[in-house]
Amino acid sequence: MEAMQDTTSVSRTMAETQNRTGSDELIFFVNGKKIVERNADPEMTLLTYLRRKLGLTGTKLGCAEGGCGACTVMLSRYQPHSQQILHHAVNACLAPLCSLHLVAVTTVEGIGSVARKLHPVQERIARSHGSQCGFCTPGIVMSMYALLRNNPTPKMADVEDAFQGNLCRCTGYRPILEGYKTFTVDGGCCGGKGKNGCCMTNGNEAFQNSKDDTEEATSLYNTADFEPYDPTQEVIFPPELMNLSKCQRSSRSLCFHGERTTWLQPESLEEFLLLKWKHPDARVVVGNTEVGIEVKFKNMVYPVILAPGLITELNAVTHTEDGIVFGAACTLSHMGAVLKEAVQSLPPHQTEVFQAVLEQLRWFAGQQIRNVAAVGGNIMTASPISDLNPVFMAADCKLTLMDKDGSREVQMDDRFFTGYRKTAAQPQEILLSIHIPYSKKSQFISAFKQSPRREDDISIVTAAMSVIFYPGTDIVKDLRLSYGGMAPVTVLATKTANRLLGRQWGEQLLQVACSSLAEEMSLDPSAPGGMEMYRRTLTLSLFYKFYLTVLQKLRLQGLSVEEVRSEYLRATEIYHPETPSSVQVYQAVPEGQSTNDVVGRPIMHLSALKQATGEAVYCDDVPLYENELYLALITSTKAHARILSVDVSAAERLPGVVCCLFASDVPGSNITGMRQDETIFADGQVTCVGHIIGAMVADTQLHAQRAAKAVKIQYEELKPVVTIQEAITTKSFYEPIRNIQSGDLETGFKQADHILEGEIHIGGQEHFYLETNVTLAVPRGEDGEMELFISSQSPSDSQSLVANALGVPANRVLVRVKRVGGGFGGKESRTTMLSTVVAVAANKLKRPVRCMLDRDEDMLITGGRHPFYGKYKVGFLQTGKVVALDVAFYGNAGNSMDLSLAIMERALFHMENSYRIPNVRGQGFLCRTNLPSNTAFRGFGGPQGMMVAENWITDVAHSLGCSAEEVRRLNLYSEGESTPYNQVLHGLTLDRCWDECLSRSEYKQRRAAANLFNSQNRWTKRGLAIVPTKFGISFTATFLNQAGALVHIYRDGSVLLTHGGTEMGQGLHTKMVQVASRVLGIPCSKIYISETSTNTVANTSPTAASASSDLNGAAVHNACETLLKRLERYKTKDPEGSWEDWVKAAYLDRVNLSANGFYKTPDLGYSFDTNSGRVFNYYSYGVACSEVEIDCLTGAHKNLRTTIVMDVGHSLNPAIDIGQVEGGFMQGLGLFTLEELHYSPQGVLLTRGPGSYKIPAFGDIPTQLTVSLLRDAPNDKAIFASKAVGEPPLFLASSVFYAIKDAIRAARAESGMTGPFRLDSPASAERIRNACCDQFTKLCPSAEPGTFTPWSVRV
Ligand SMILES: Cc1cc2nc3c(=O)[nH]c(=O)nc-3n(C[C@H](O)[C@H](O)[C@H](O)COP(=O)(O)OP(=O)(O)OC[C@H]3O[C@@H](n4cnc5c(N)ncnc54)[C@H](O)[C@@H]3O)c2cc1C
Ligand code: FES
Ligand code: FES
Repeated sequence: MEAMQDTTSVSRTMAETQNRTGSDELIFFVNGKKIVERNADPEMTLLTYLRRKLGLTGTKLGCAEGGCGACTVMLSRYQPHSQQILHHAVNACLAPLCSLHLVAVTTVEGIGSVARKLHPVQERIARSHGSQCGFCTPGIVMSMYALLRNNPTPKMADVEDAFQGNLCRCTGYRPILEGYKTFTVDGGCCGGKGKNGCCMTNGNEAFQNSKDDTEEATSLYNTADFEPYDPTQEVIFPPELMNLSKCQRSSRSLCFHGERTTWLQPESLEEFLLLKWKHPDARVVVGNTEVGIEVKFKNMVYPVILAPGLITELNAVTHTEDGIVFGAACTLSHMGAVLKEAVQSLPPHQTEVFQAVLEQLRWFAGQQIRNVAAVGGNIMTASPISDLNPVFMAADCKLTLMDKDGSREVQMDDRFFTGYRKTAAQPQEILLSIHIPYSKKSQFISAFKQSPRREDDISIVTAAMSVIFYPGTDIVKDLRLSYGGMAPVTVLATKTANRLLGRQWGEQLLQVACSSLAEEMSLDPSAPGGMEMYRRTLTLSLFYKFYLTVLQKLRLQGLSVEEVRSEYLRATEIYHPETPSSVQVYQAVPEGQSTNDVVGRPIMHLSALKQATGEAVYCDDVPLYENELYLALITSTKAHARILSVDVSAAERLPGVVCCLFASDVPGSNITGMRQDETIFADGQVTCVGHIIGAMVADTQLHAQRAAKAVKIQYEELKPVVTIQEAITTKSFYEPIRNIQSGDLETGFKQADHILEGEIHIGGQEHFYLETNVTLAVPRGEDGEMELFISSQSPSDSQSLVANALGVPANRVLVRVKRVGGGFGGKESRTTMLSTVVAVAANKLKRPVRCMLDRDEDMLITGGRHPFYGKYKVGFLQTGKVVALDVAFYGNAGNSMDLSLAIMERALFHMENSYRIPNVRGQGFLCRTNLPSNTAFRGFGGPQGMMVAENWITDVAHSLGCSAEEVRRLNLYSEGESTPYNQVLHGLTLDRCWDECLSRSEYKQRRAAANLFNSQNRWTKRGLAIVPTKFGISFTATFLNQAGALVHIYRDGSVLLTHGGTEMGQGLHTKMVQVASRVLGIPCSKIYISETSTNTVANTSPTAASASSDLNGAAVHNACETLLKRLERYKTKDPEGSWEDWVKAAYLDRVNLSANGFYKTPDLGYSFDTNSGRVFNYYSYGVACSEVEIDCLTGAHKNLRTTIVMDVGHSLNPAIDIGQVEGGFMQGLGLFTLEELHYSPQGVLLTRGPGSYKIPAFGDIPTQLTVSLLRDAPNDKAIFASKAVGEPPLFLASSVFYAIKDAIRAARAESGMTGPFRLDSPASAERIRNACCDQFTKLCPSAEPGTFTPWSVRV
């Protein structure tokens, strides 16, 4: 133990800090403006401060847990010792306000604006069509901006790295990368820095082509329009802050007192140690990426927080003779940079450990987290799934712990982690540093991380393995196998390691290791996290990879070990992402089309620039009303229970609380829902976890949420029905059970040469719109009037249900929707749950009330895509022709009907996908369960119906042993054939899409190449699939197929356009302006859409079913035609006049310059009773071909290539349509390969945020992506020959699922397994690995179902 130096002076400082009753001044700068905050609250985040205190709403809240990047800002700090200014992208949602002393914060508003000047990062994302709903855009802009501030000449790999922590749910990422490629040195454009030959000065060649070539265009924007990027023009670090930083150290002692927490920033190590001694229970906070989550989501309260992040010793990096010592507060980014440098400068044999750490850091969170998270935080959190601890343990790292009396060194071995999130450190001790050793000459070390998603994800199993050989031999001297994710702590497989000591590195050792690991790394089948068989198998598979890697390295050292067979080599390769490339093809407008006519041209989303600057106003960006209150929901923690008592006494005593609300506070009807089978507030019983029981209203969000959590509810639990299988067993179904039948099943099955039966389960999906549900209700003070700002896809439904709740006629309720930060169906009907509650509160209190759901609440409460189970019997001929199909669908509807019946009907209408089946029966059962009601989601049941179809067609091919592509082609519909619901198909373009897709994807060559690849590789396999889709366009509820528009022409000639649809990123407003512009013959710049509101266009249908452009476009057309007719005589009178002249003349002549338009789709009306009548107005068609590569040992897969051919008729706007195709495809990719909702057997949703629920990220897009809009395919059923595009492309992502299945088939064949096999959706890494049966899976059989309680159940 080292003795501490004189502590008296430090004690004095501490005493001073401690005894201060008031808080210090917090000084920081935001966008160059100085802020002095005298009441900094330790529990407040930077995000809340920016949005609520400074009104800077450009920075968005998407998750509050560092998982989406919507809140990204740049922090800059002057470093006195290096005299450098460091810039970092960080998550404002996790950055504690109190940590910002003497920091410059730059937000999206600080770098440019539409009015002033856009920054090139803002302009390029907008012009390259990388902003749809725009909610993610400011965060992405700021990630890119921070990258450029640190590195004005980045490479594409740097850009990809910078975006690891950003999510977008709309765009599919491709256009963002394309736009930002122009900043890179290797992305095909110099970003304007080059002179001769630069596309930015000469004009983009591809774009030029598109102008000249009326046939086929391949560029959606012109890089010549981009402002050049000049790094010398960046905003400077505030000079005043520089001076302050020089004379007043940011690391000085600071103290801030809040309502529940005191923040103490010690100045020196001594002060820190004394504070820790005085407050052993104090939480140490450096990056706050663990503690922030604990406070926000685990309700932890820490009365004292110690913030030692700026203490010199804790940030020191010391190179010693046998390694590098990192201070515990070193950020992961900094550690990574130091290690990279060391790897470059030291001999490779010394840096094996460093390389293993770097490999883990590559997949550790996103850059915003790595920029603040400290290595000490990772160690001391002692998480069992820490990615670094296994490496530190395998590498035998040493830690220095310290308290006020001295320091001690401890080994990071299996004695350090003493239990779940516990370490051997004493409460008064802190971690000073970690020593990471150089590797030895005869040492090899590898690290592995397997997570559901490759980028920014927590691991399922993480491992590090180190072996030391006796010099010059292959005999094991020392072995450390360290695993995370296999126990409550990071563990060493000591027994196995001991068994292998002294053995030669060869086949025998491998056998012993595998059987020993299978025994030692056992897992309780009920273990948290589930996936028991997979996790166990991974311990073996990862060891096997290590085994092969070491064999190779030993051979390279000249030892005569067994040679690694060439077909095993790929198993040793480390994954390196490849920069994606893409092609978009569309038909250019016909020669001769006026340049003023923008229909058919790829014009930018009209709000894109505002979205990129943060100026676009979303619902929660509406400035606070002076007397506004905040609401938080009180929800059920039980899936099915009677409410015995509700105790609000403790909650009501909390600060800021104004009132609580329950069913008795509803002035109108408490009965609500699309089918009037729900309650606004639970009445005596709850039927799902998340069921709204009541609400708390307080002065701030924090107070309301704290109070809601303090309400005590007693329940009498009833048995819940959670899964589809439980519903089937208990016959828990909603009525009616739908049935479509055509042909003669019995005869069909008799004709068949073969009959097979099968099943598939398709998991549900969370919408994960980046903007969660939000409502602001403002009472207007007279006659029950209420104005609501809602993020809703269906203002009219919100209006009528709010009116119903308030007991007033609908004419008193005004719903206004400016824009929605993504909807995807999730804001169609379920939004009303929140809106009605908020309206009831505002009505009762006669004050404005606001509520924006937190991400976890939104996920818990609002439901998602219906999980489906499909069971089928299919009869087919030897040729592969399907002649009979009997299929039953079971959809998990949840605790209310909502839109489930229509969703099931659409599943039935798509049960044959694109195949002609002469004899068919489909039945649809809606399961009544105790889950939150599931609802509309892009595709609305169609994808589930088609997914089952693709499963049986794949089974047919597998059972015949022939290619699935041939069986699909053979069964494709032909023109004039009839669907099972007797609708004749006209204008069919399936075959054209199919043929173009086959040729563009080079299917035959790729197939041959994949077959060759598979024959040469045992542990990686490639697969291909080409899949068609046919998607019916119209609401299946006939009455919804109507739309209205209202167009005003003002005296100055400007036009205000309103229609029934809402803008949620899909570009609807842009398309409507294009339509009006063509009809009125004026430029788009004269037309403006302000919002969607129930007092301008009444009785609107939801913006859904992909039909909004068709319906509203026709209504806009109708209104504009009316106006044009009224202006006709003035145009004739003054043919040389301008638009303004005609408008003025008409006005003076007392002509009505307002008109409304209306449209209803003709000839619709299907009856289930007679199986007749037209269901759909027309169909959208498409075909996609995908190729993947799977890692048979881990279940990971790479999306190599996808080619999509989509029929969108004559596109109104190819940029928007391609954006919809790509965005829909990526959402489908999530549905079928990645996104997995986990529910406990008691019906509790376990995946409630981006940390545990993974939507596709930047790294998931196919390496090569081609999207082609079918040429010469006019559609006579919709506006200007266009077609709907929102939902149809989503299903094309199933091509990736079936390509994976194809690859698994090749893997199974290696083990002698052929014929159909079951693969449920999503094709997660777990499912892929388990399906690739081999010697490792055999050693880890799964526990017998029914013998244990699983962590999660398939619902
Ligand atoms: C979005 C997101 C993604 C993430 N991804 C990953 C991932 O991929 N892999 C992974 O392993 N982790 C991941 N994490 C977890 C987390 O980022 C890391 O554990 C990080 O290293 C914690 O560091 P911090 O400085 O932010 O910790 P803080 O939250 O500041 O502190 C964490 C804990 O460490 C203690 N502590 C910190 N420093 C000391 C010290 N010097 N002495 C004593 N105690 C100390 C604190 O008391 C506290 O309990 C992720 C977290 C988030 C929010
Ligand atoms: S809101 Fe901060 S990362 Fe999602
Ligand atoms: S544009 Fe990215 S989330 Fe909508």
